[in-house]
Amino acid sequence: MSAPLSNSLSPQLAPFEIDPRTGEPYLRLPPPLSHIVITPPRPSDAPTAVRLFNDPLVYRWVSTPPFPYLLEHAEDWYALVKAETGKVWKELQEASADGPLKIVAGCPVRAIRCWKEDGTDVFIGDCGFMRHTFADVADLDERTRLVAENKARPPGDPNIIWSIGDYLDPAWHGKGIMTAVIGTLMSQWAIPRMAVRVVRPSVFDGNIGSVRTFEKNGFTLVQTLPESMFVKEKGPFPAENRTQHFLEWRAY
Ligand SMILES: CC(C)(COP(=O)(O)OP(=O)(O)OC[C@H]1O[C@@H](n2cnc3c(N)ncnc32)[C@H](O)[C@@H]1OP(=O)(O)O)[C@@H](O)C(=O)NCCC(=O)NCCS
Repeated sequence: MSAPLSNSLSPQLAPFEIDPRTGEPYLRLPPPLSHIVITPPRPSDAPTAVRLFNDPLVYRWVSTPPFPYLLEHAEDWYALVKAETGKVWKELQEASADGPLKIVAGCPVRAIRCWKEDGTDVFIGDCGFMRHTFADVADLDERTRLVAENKARPPGDPNIIWSIGDYLDPAWHGKGIMTAVIGTLMSQWAIPRMAVRVVRPSVFDGNIGSVRTFEKNGFTLVQTLPESMFVKEKGPFPAENRTQHFLEWRAY
């Protein structure tokens, strides 16, 4: 695998490298997964996202994406995350190279790609940080209040409660990729540059792989809420109330 040359960057942009083929920043997973990189999302990934979110090995375990997942859903989502990640990257580029390291509201990279020998790459998944939605709070008025309070906290506020959403192409499952992606994003960016201090992802009961990716990164299972989220019928899976596990990572 031939790695592209990287440029020397402002300290504000560390730890990213720049891919000279695309001009994009990227983070590379540690060996033996250094052929896997995390880059900004590309709208051209939308058709692959449509294929993946219509695969039962993915849609069975995610709650947010609509089902069936259409190209228009993917295009809307890509417009949103492209703008979010682009804004953060621009802010970092404009920050004074001599000033204190800037704390920002998000991560400029989230799309997981495999670099191939011929210099091209293939999009294989996504991992993003978002603010926690308090699905663990049954009282809907209280949940709305907590969501609004959490959303109103300014970037860098250590009291923000975060969550993580991720998925990987089933052809790439079970190779240690998402464990390394979560670890890389947490240590290289979320903790030092977003001041993330509390992360509370939720996982549907039965998703052993997802629970393990978090546990292997220092998260602990803090709560299980039986039959707490109604999920409508999806393909062969009937409508049902699904059990949710909440995991947590804390810096303190
Ligand atoms: C969950 C998911 C992201 C895990 O990614 P991954 O790269 O396959 O996970 P890893 O290879 O890093 O595996 C981490 C651990 O989970 C285990 N694992 C992975 N998939 C598993 C499965 N289906 N059943 C049991 N264990 C599994 C691995 O063996 C490993 O544990 P170990 O090191 O103790 O052996 C991936 O399976 C996926 O995209 N699933 C569909 C979407 C989804 O569930 N998203 C998360 C929603 S909360």
